[in-house]
Amino acid sequence: MGHDLFLKALRGENHTGRPPVWLMRQAGRYMASYQKLRKQYSFLELCHTPRLIQHVTTLPIDTFGFDAAILFSDILLLLEAMGFTLSYEDGKAPTVTPRLSFRDSVQGDHILERLAYQFEGIQLAKKSLDRPLIGFSAAPFTLAGYLVEGGTKKWMDESPQRFEELLTSLADIIISYCNEQITSGCDAIQIFESAALPLTAEQFRQFCMPSLRKIVEGVRAAPLILFARGPFWESMAHLEPTALSLDWQCSLAEVRKKIPRPIALQGNFDPHLLLDEPLEIEQAVKTLLESMRNDPGYMCNLGHGILPGTPEKNVHVLVNTVREFS
Ligand code: CP3
Repeated sequence: MGHDLFLKALRGENHTGRPPVWLMRQAGRYMASYQKLRKQYSFLELCHTPRLIQHVTTLPIDTFGFDAAILFSDILLLLEAMGFTLSYEDGKAPTVTPRLSFRDSVQGDHILERLAYQFEGIQLAKKSLDRPLIGFSAAPFTLAGYLVEGGTKKWMDESPQRFEELLTSLADIIISYCNEQITSGCDAIQIFESAALPLTAEQFRQFCMPSLRKIVEGVRAAPLILFARGPFWESMAHLEPTALSLDWQCSLAEVRKKIPRPIALQGNFDPHLLLDEPLEIEQAVKTLLESMRNDPGYMCNLGHGILPGTPEKNVHVLVNTVREFS
């Protein structure tokens, strides 16, 4: 079977009878081979070394046969390139220091040079892959959650105008970052607005939409996928991205009724179900695929990242069920 299913589906032109499949966080701690590497290298060492970026990016493709690879890195490496210090400790949420106060601003003057190792990793990965490579960035609001002193709620409440300025600056930096990923070989870009889930509709409109709009307009050289959890897909559809990635709180078939093609839809298998028994998983995957049958703009994925304790055999069950679907 051809290896361009993913790009076909992004264009709304996949008439092969089965959707492409890849999983958010497909390269990660649930894989024994990844854990083995982590005994040898820290997470940041893996992220900083072109040859290891290539290796970990291709690891889940070789193991499971996903239809697309996603760059092995993390959303916070961009902040490191902006001069901040990252800390990843086992079992804890990563941290960024120093934190940004209302008086501070960010600048992205040298980020492309400082991320040269990553672009080299993209080039290497691209050479060894026979299928599409997805680049990514966090959206400004999600990135700000790791960056601002006191948290995003404080900034929204106490200094909304200053916060909007910060988000605009971050959007500009993210645009040049994503465009360089594309220049280096990425075939599509996914933007993670993962931290928006607790926002009200009004907060999402005020703090997320303007910078997402800017990014959709600024990253045009490759298909763009917007991911957010919660009910925000309806607003994001107005931005006309190539695709929307949805969580498991919605029915994709119902969403499709409101969001006509050519916007492609990605998702939305509940990652918790991957902890279930193989037979249950197969059944649940079939139900999802059946609900999107004959939709040429559908990409199978999870509704959020794969959970660390997921058994590898269950991932094989998911992928095989998709590949055998007809
Ligand atoms: O999807 C992939 O396999 C590609 C690589 C990727 C990672 N993080 C690797 C990673 C991607 C696309 C991300 C995105 C990311 N990182 C997001 C947005 C997507 C989402 O899940 O909401 C966010 C919020 C982060 C921030 C982050 N990085 C957290 C909260 C953590 C710790 C918890 C966790 O999930 O592991 C990380 C660390 C991280 N990022 C690891 C990996 C493989 C684990 C590091 C390790 O080896 O210990």
